[in-house]
Amino acid sequence: HIPVLTIDGPSGAGKGTIAREVVLAKGWHFLDSGALYRLTGLHCQRCGVDTQDADLAAELAANLPVEFVVGAEGERVLLAGDDVTAEIRTETTGALASQVAALQPVREALLQRQRDFRQPPGLVADGRDMGTVVFPDADFKVFLTASAEERAERRYKQLKEQGADVSLAVLTEEIAERDRRDASRSVSPLVPAADAQVIDTTGIGVGAVFERVMAVLAE
Ligand code: CDP
Repeated sequence: HIPVLTIDGPSGAGKGTIAREVVLAKGWHFLDSGALYRLTGLHCQRCGVDTQDADLAAELAANLPVEFVVGAEGERVLLAGDDVTAEIRTETTGALASQVAALQPVREALLQRQRDFRQPPGLVADGRDMGTVVFPDADFKVFLTASAEERAERRYKQLKEQGADVSLAVLTEEIAERDRRDASRSVSPLVPAADAQVIDTTGIGVGAVFERVMAVLAE
């Protein structure tokens, strides 16, 4: 049996940061499922495929020409040989991701690829439907949330650190729009699994959230 910890929640809730810390602490594998949706959205755009065209988008998702390479500056993501490490993190790509993520054929095309990440000694899976759809039998499930203002501020700081030119007001609106789409879509809407521990991280530092997640793993 290979243990899985699922970390779901809306944008800017701190899933990625916590997931990476748990990965370091436990030595488990890491699935950044959002990156697969971001890559699919970007690939559609680059191939001139409409993000509403479910069948074509699913075909691209099933055959993503993606490579993860470790270079001098850390891990790089290549899409059809092109370095897209920075571009997949922009809010423009986030919006494309959320459009293709609403298409059931795209989600199906990415399902097995995500499950294949479950390898010994364990997996930390970060996303929106990790505990509900992809790993419903996961041993440990958490759902991280925070107020919309705080999530927008966290994302703003993160994008600024990456050197992006963003405005907090615009970003807040873009994230709210993405949250609305993610929560209201008919396929895999963003909801906590019935057996997930919901942690509201508003006003709580990374260290304290990490402790709470590690406590869930010790249960
Ligand atoms: O980092 P952030 O939480 O803002 O985004 P992300 O996790 O990279 O996900 C980008 C978009 O992909 C989300 O807005 C969702 O629409 C979609 N997504 C999804 O539908 N299911 C997942 N398991 C992960 C991401």
